[in-house]
Amino acid sequence: MLTEYLLLPLLATYSAAVHISVAKSGGNATTNLQYGVMEEEINHCGEGGLYAELIRNRAFQGSTTYPSSLDAWTAVGRSRLSLQNLTSPLSSALPTSVKVSGKGTVGLSNDGFWGIDVRPQKYSGSFYVKGSYKGSFTASLLSATSGKTLASTKVKSKSVAGEWVQHEFTLTPKKTAANTNNTLSLTFDASKASDGSLDFNLISLFPPTWNDRPNGMRRDLMQALSDLGPKFLRFPGGNNLEGDTIDGRWKWNETIGPLTGRPGRATTWGYEETSGMGLVEYMEWCDDLGMEPILAIWAGFALNGDAVAEADIDAYVQDALDELEFLTGSVDTKYGALRAKYGHSDPWTIRYVEVGNEDNLNGGLSTYESYRFAAFYDAITAKYPHIQVLASTIDMTLPGSAGGDYHLYDVPDNFVTNFGMFDNYTDKHPILLGEIAVTEFNNGVGIDWNDKNFSLYPWWIGSVAEAVFLLGAERNADKIIGTTYAPYFMNLDSYEWSPTMISFNADPDDTARSTSWHVYNLFNKNHMTNTLPATWDGTYGPLYYAVGLDSVTDSHIFKAAVYNSTADVPVSLTFEGVGRGTTADLTILTAPNAFSMNEVGGANVVHSQTTTVKAGKKGVFSFSLPNLSVAVLTTNA
Ligand SMILES: *[C@@H]1O[C@H](CO)[C@@H](O)[C@H](O)[C@H]1NC(C)=O
Ligand SMILES: *[C@@H]1O[C@H](CO)[C@@H](O)[C@H](O)[C@H]1NC(C)=O
Ligand SMILES: *[C@@H]1O[C@H](CO)[C@@H](O)[C@H](O)[C@H]1NC(C)=O
Ligand SMILES: *[C@@H]1O[C@H](CO)[C@@H](O)[C@H](O)[C@H]1NC(C)=O
Ligand SMILES: *[C@@H]1O[C@H](CO)[C@@H](O)[C@H](O)[C@H]1NC(C)=O
Ligand SMILES: *[C@@H]1O[C@H](CO)[C@@H](O)[C@H](O)[C@H]1NC(C)=O
Ligand SMILES: *[C@@H]1O[C@H](CO)[C@@H](O)[C@H](O)[C@H]1NC(C)=O
Ligand SMILES: *[C@@H]1O[C@H](CO)[C@@H](O)[C@H](O)[C@H]1NC(C)=O
Repeated sequence: MLTEYLLLPLLATYSAAVHISVAKSGGNATTNLQYGVMEEEINHCGEGGLYAELIRNRAFQGSTTYPSSLDAWTAVGRSRLSLQNLTSPLSSALPTSVKVSGKGTVGLSNDGFWGIDVRPQKYSGSFYVKGSYKGSFTASLLSATSGKTLASTKVKSKSVAGEWVQHEFTLTPKKTAANTNNTLSLTFDASKASDGSLDFNLISLFPPTWNDRPNGMRRDLMQALSDLGPKFLRFPGGNNLEGDTIDGRWKWNETIGPLTGRPGRATTWGYEETSGMGLVEYMEWCDDLGMEPILAIWAGFALNGDAVAEADIDAYVQDALDELEFLTGSVDTKYGALRAKYGHSDPWTIRYVEVGNEDNLNGGLSTYESYRFAAFYDAITAKYPHIQVLASTIDMTLPGSAGGDYHLYDVPDNFVTNFGMFDNYTDKHPILLGEIAVTEFNNGVGIDWNDKNFSLYPWWIGSVAEAVFLLGAERNADKIIGTTYAPYFMNLDSYEWSPTMISFNADPDDTARSTSWHVYNLFNKNHMTNTLPATWDGTYGPLYYAVGLDSVTDSHIFKAAVYNSTADVPVSLTFEGVGRGTTADLTILTAPNAFSMNEVGGANVVHSQTTTVKAGKKGVFSFSLPNLSVAVLTTNA
């Protein structure tokens, strides 16, 4: 631990410290939702990511965009696999199954979401099979590199001719596999199957999940969120909510109930989703991490530019009201009863609803402004007056109590020049910063959507620039509902968009919490309940800051970032009413250089150092902040 006098020699080399005087009162109360999470099905962030299912293409779901296939599946030995749409399918939602035929031991194996993590823990598996079979099945985890069996179990057949019968099994490997290049294999003795073949569908395998929820979430990724302490979840998107076409929209009622009833759909990000992670799973995710749900509802507009006509909008408004009833209605209501049937008799509380996504883009604004937003806003506020309804843009005049959503993807320099953006926002309507990320390298201009020269991971100068922008928002915390980075997750083995907050592959030990994760973490852990006015003899740049109070701990908080400085910045800070001898914790984040990144499988490059600083004469806290640093000082009450 560095003490204050160790900092003194440093200070001595700089002549002019900036003097910041923070007043006792006169600030504004902040909202409670400072930093949250934005979710959408992109980058295999849910499927093959947060959603812990290990089997890819588990039910051969397809669409006209992504026809059913045997992707991720391989025939064992000389078996034959063929996709079939049987006249009696597993369910109308899952019409396609696989026929496995051949001689002797036959079966199929799946290579997971680009690997399967195998370690000594209990894996819960299940599959549906159709056809008469008198023998037993063998379910195994195998190493693709060594061919070794890592775990295996026999599953006695209870199959019946002409019927789909579910079988369950568990696998408990004794050792951690050498790597994640492993498969799940399922075999049977074809000579004991009446037709020499069997039909399979919905083949599933889960490792232990967060809070041990069935159909639950991957533990390491939930841990990375839990450690950050997010306050809200904006879901289910994003472009993926909108859909490529009106019919391709995200339909809440096709994501609930038993997995056999979820048809899945073509995402807008290049792959089919199973909808295994549906509306209820999102709400359970909120419950598990104590996050406020910000529910996005479909707003009558698809990415191809098609808008629902004004005369037809009511059916979609009703659909949104049904969704809200499903989540919040008593068990005496039609959809509240459905929720209870699916295991949640207690209603959830929804305080925020966002209407659509980026309706200012793709030619959506004119219909949004003229009737789409109003139709949803009027109906929702009439039935649920306590709900804060948000528009998906701030590019229009917002009615009544509506809020807006603002997104920013840009280069580091432009995040910094936007520091003052909310000082200038005089509109009374609150804003959600629903998608924020530095994506592209400084190029002297700004983001170029054509070259899309985006970084693979957040990098340090970008994370510092984000901190500067977040400070601009924190200074105006009375106008901001909450802020979230986006997109949040990326599976490095299959992604459409980088950078993201958290990156991963099939191996939980490789998960990377980005440089931005560390910045958000520091700011989120030091929540100000009130801003406080300050006067100073400097101007913003290279030092940017926000000041306030945490009235719960009665601690004064100073948050800062230094961007583009040619030298360390000495600071002389006073809080009115905080006297000499008061101690404070000063945490400073730095990284080896401007382009340092936290990579999948790599070490954390962000250096965090906390020192104790004591207020000297006249209550002055003296310290200095290096170039490209992010810092928080909190006084001890
Ligand atoms: C509090 O909010 C008012 C109105 O938005 C603004 O003028 C003032 O600067 C804010 N005070 C602080 C300390 O941010
Ligand atoms: C099977 O059903 C799927 C989903 O409805 C459909 O896309 C596919 O074309 C069908 N395949 C055959 C061979 O009929
Ligand atoms: C897994 O192992 C197989 C067999 O050695 C090899 O062909 C394949 O490339 C490996 N996959 C990965 C992702 O390393
Ligand atoms: C979902 O809701 C729509 C609109 O109410 C309805 O047309 C559709 O049949 C429902 N789908 C399911 C699977 O319940
Ligand atoms: C940072 O410094 C570079 C080089 O001097 C300059 O081009 C850029 O405008 C500066 N950025 C900001 C936000 O001050
Ligand atoms: C905010 O307004 C001030 C004063 O008009 C102006 O100097 C500054 O550039 C504005 N900031 C932004 C980010 O627009
Ligand atoms: C992308 O950005 C990097 C870093 O600034 C630069 O080295 C590279 O030339 C750029 N690539 C393209 C295609 O613009
Ligand atoms: C501060 O960081 C900027 C941006 O990376 C860099 O251009 C500048 O040289 C750094 N200044 C010092 C003194 O290291």
